[in-house]
Amino acid sequence: MLSKRFRTSIVTAGVAVLALGLAACGGSDDSGDSASGDSSAAAAGGGGDAIVVGFSQVGSESGWRAANTKSIQDTLTADAGFDLKFSDAQQKQENQIQAIRSYIAQGVDYIAFSPVVESGWDAVLEEAKAANIPVILTDRAVDSKDTSLYKTFIGSDFVKEGERIGKYVSDTLGTEPINVVELQGTTGSAPANDRKSGFADAIKDNPNVKVIASETGNFTRAEGKTVMEGFLQAYPDIDVVYAHNDDMGLGAIEAIEAAGKVPGKDIKVVSIDGVHDGMVALSEGKISYIVECNPLLGPDLAKIITTLHDGGTVEPRIVTEDGEFNQEQAIAALPDRQY
Ligand code: AHR
Repeated sequence: MLSKRFRTSIVTAGVAVLALGLAACGGSDDSGDSASGDSSAAAAGGGGDAIVVGFSQVGSESGWRAANTKSIQDTLTADAGFDLKFSDAQQKQENQIQAIRSYIAQGVDYIAFSPVVESGWDAVLEEAKAANIPVILTDRAVDSKDTSLYKTFIGSDFVKEGERIGKYVSDTLGTEPINVVELQGTTGSAPANDRKSGFADAIKDNPNVKVIASETGNFTRAEGKTVMEGFLQAYPDIDVVYAHNDDMGLGAIEAIEAAGKVPGKDIKVVSIDGVHDGMVALSEGKISYIVECNPLLGPDLAKIITTLHDGGTVEPRIVTEDGEFNQEQAIAALPDRQY
């Protein structure tokens, strides 16, 4: 759902938000980037009046990412007036840079991407700007000082997500001394940086809450499990796992169970995302609390592009709305979850 701020900006600009019903004809290619592991075909159709969008995705590391990719591909369709060129960077910045350069060379109308890490984007973004191709950041931020290098950044407030989960840990579990281990997301990524700092800030005044270890699990279930196995061997007295996403939390649950302990009882797990498997684990009591990160960015991305295409303006930062869930709320929400 669009934030109120963004809805206001569209009204102020006096722009009809949806420019659907454009001609849907012609063909399209992917980024042409063989090193990036591209597999998705662009929308059948396009050409003519279609708005050509090059999208460089981070990878396919998690359930969240799968839902995000589906949302974008289901929305930026030929029927909706788009010619989507989609590439999967397999969690490698060099692949994303290569894909963006390929989109610039192809002369697409817009470039959108979810940056795998925060730093190192200025040069390629300057190339896009020089080619007059507007760039939209989705999901993750860059740390470029020059904000004219992109039109807007749409996505969740990751610092707030970390703060919300930290507040739950501090208020609900931290009424007695607890040892927390942290499974960080991809090193250098905005969600890993922000979820770590938001959490640290929220627990800092509670002396009961001690983070005894913190390592990256790269946002994947497999690496979350491996890191948790190491934690269990090194620390016999873990009370809580804070996983920066559900997938790593689910991997940690596998490690906890393999070690003969009961997740949710012997060791509590809290995580961020709210994907289907995470919500099922929450409904079963294996995860204790989830702060949501909404992956369904496709419709808002389409509205941003059509607004810009019609000569309107958009806010430089559009924050998506996220919820949070305990066990009862997960049971109630699961039947209607889209991902
Ligand atoms: O950038 C969003 C994060 O990336 C999600 O929380 C995580 O699951 C994904 O890999």
